[in-house]
Amino acid sequence: MKVVISLGGIFLKDATRIKEIAEALEELAESCDLYVVTGGGEIARECIKIARDLGANEAVCDYIGIAVTRINAKLLISALHNAYPEPFSDYKEVTAAKAKGEEAKITVMGGVSPGYTTDAVAAILAEYVNADLLIDVTSVDGVYDADPRRYPDARKYDVLTAKELVALTAKEELKAGSRIVIDPVAAKIIERSGIKTIVIDGSNPRDIFGAVQGKHRGTEINPESHR
Ligand code: UTP
Repeated sequence: MKVVISLGGIFLKDATRIKEIAEALEELAESCDLYVVTGGGEIARECIKIARDLGANEAVCDYIGIAVTRINAKLLISALHNAYPEPFSDYKEVTAAKAKGEEAKITVMGGVSPGYTTDAVAAILAEYVNADLLIDVTSVDGVYDADPRRYPDARKYDVLTAKELVALTAKEELKAGSRIVIDPVAAKIIERSGIKTIVIDGSNPRDIFGAVQGKHRGTEINPESHR
């Protein structure tokens, strides 16, 4: 089974958390082919804000965000024993490394190019490697009809079709560093690839195992026909 995880930058902000998540990922990699895409978290947002205050345009801000996601990828790799030693910067590099036929290793990468977030990178990677499952490990416990941090009455979805996800995310602003659970580009890729996607809260890294087994309290996004 091939699993791609989009890991929010919030889970990479100190050594204790990184070790915890790395342990869970290594255990998971014993039973599946694992790919992890790391987010930039607050540090990315802070750096983007400084760049924007200095007059940088959105593409420049995006590149600053990408740099932070790659630093986080390197931090995660430092805690893993069975990962490729450097973050990949492109999807094709991943399959080229795998084609060399070495023992199975965890693939870790950060951002790729401006205009989207690491959720979209994870969705494109999932499509490219024909993954069975995409898990978005984030700081909220699923997809809501509004930001639950700002609207306490927001309603959480247990299940969504990819088409519904596209409609929900279409109104989101795609500025560098925006706070969105799944970005609209990721939603479109999830829709076109038909890949099953689960959004969960990553506060307890062990919950990732539940998600792989289909037991979770997050949001499941299925292709239209599987609703
Ligand atoms: P993130 O993927 O970390 O954004 O990328 P996020 O959705 O806020 O994720 P969390 O908070 O870690 O969960 C940080 C920023 O880097 C740029 C974007 O500006 C994004 O907002 N970025 C990232 C890109 O432009 N392209 C990429 O491929 C990845």
